[in-house]
Amino acid sequence: MADQTESAAAMSSPRGLPDDQVDRTVRRQVAVRLEGVEVRYGDTVALQDCSFEVARGETVALLGPSGSGKSTALKAIAGFEKVAAGVVTIDGRDITHASPAKRGIGIVVQSYALFPHMSVRSNVAFGLKAHKTDRDAIKPRVDEVLRMVGMLDYAERLPRELSGGQQQRVAIARALATRPEVILLDEPLSALDAAMRRDMITELQRLRAELPDVAMVYVTHDQSEALALADRIAIMRNARLESIDTTERLFTRPPTEFTAAFLGGADVLPVQLVRGAEAGEPIVARYGSVELRASGHDGVAGSAHVALAVRPWAWRFTRTSPANGLEVTVQTEQWRGSVRHVTAEVVATGQRIGVDVPVLVASPLKAETLWVEVDPSDVMVVPADVDEPAGAAVVSATIATEGGR
Ligand SMILES: Nc1ncnc2c1ncn2[C@@H]1O[C@H](COP(=O)(O)OP(=O)(O)O)[C@@H](O)[C@H]1O
Ligand SMILES: [Mg+2]
Repeated sequence: MADQTESAAAMSSPRGLPDDQVDRTVRRQVAVRLEGVEVRYGDTVALQDCSFEVARGETVALLGPSGSGKSTALKAIAGFEKVAAGVVTIDGRDITHASPAKRGIGIVVQSYALFPHMSVRSNVAFGLKAHKTDRDAIKPRVDEVLRMVGMLDYAERLPRELSGGQQQRVAIARALATRPEVILLDEPLSALDAAMRRDMITELQRLRAELPDVAMVYVTHDQSEALALADRIAIMRNARLESIDTTERLFTRPPTEFTAAFLGGADVLPVQLVRGAEAGEPIVARYGSVELRASGHDGVAGSAHVALAVRPWAWRFTRTSPANGLEVTVQTEQWRGSVRHVTAEVVATGQRIGVDVPVLVASPLKAETLWVEVDPSDVMVVPADVDEPAGAAVVSATIATEGGR
């Protein structure tokens, strides 16, 4: 088995994505691998040509809008949906068509799914009994996993006597009880209120450290959960894996327009490259009648089709024409926690962009002519989307982000 695992880990990149987008960051032993996986519901293709890997000890978050195929990808790994094409392996074993019970996977879903008439202890013991665990070994293991999730004192209670967060801890303990090699979590925090969700993120981070050999796949539509918990993030879009990389790289060097707009929020400006540059030097690009400089890139060839992406926090309003910026008129304003989110229309193009203003800064006046300025190092350069005009990608990403799940 060890040989098989190592050869699986050493195999070349799975097909379906350009080499430079596939899992270059997996260095540890591969635990889960999907290769060209397709799942259909009747005529609907819910997952298409999906390839990625998860290493032991690694957490990969699947992040994307509702309906993008995240849960379907988890079901393909868990064995809950039939795989129409492609291969799923765990530790090098082909489990594409194995029954769910034979896969050694622990699963946590949004709705807790605890048995209501059974105590916490019985709920957690259930899987161990099903696995024909030695009777004497059950109690110590149940105690151990309940302690891990901080629920040992609640062992004799019924699920209805627990808060949502406590029920979810029990569900996690139940998933851990049989020592699975792979744990799949599907929106595990989305039924909880915001304060409970923050606590549980901290709790999951702590728990992760106690499970150094477990591969985790964490499905969420909430990017703050993905950013907090994942080593790598896979962005899903329209039944496809759009991009996958370390959280930091995906955030700072988004490989597609959609990734830039969806993860962290950014407006994508369609531009013509005026002057290409090596990494570190600013490029110059024409946006409408304006030239913008950008140095947030790793080198751009002279003929490349690129777009610029700017996050709302990177713009600053100015009352005089700036060195690197755009003339705008303010359209709307919305309070969002610690910032006011301003929608501004670019005079040169009519495109609307988002600008975050700290709440303590005096409000920019509506209809007054203003400029927004951006530091070239805060302007990201992304490959232009060939399928869709940039404006359309931004609109769909904005809707997806704000629409929630
Ligand atoms: N049981 C099902 N029968 C038919 N269509 C389904 C079923 N489950 C999911 N779908 C469809 O498959 C697509 C992907 O769904 P899903 O993986 O649940 O998305 P996500 O988890 O990203 O919100 C969607 O278009 C959804 O409507
Ligand atoms: Mg889902």
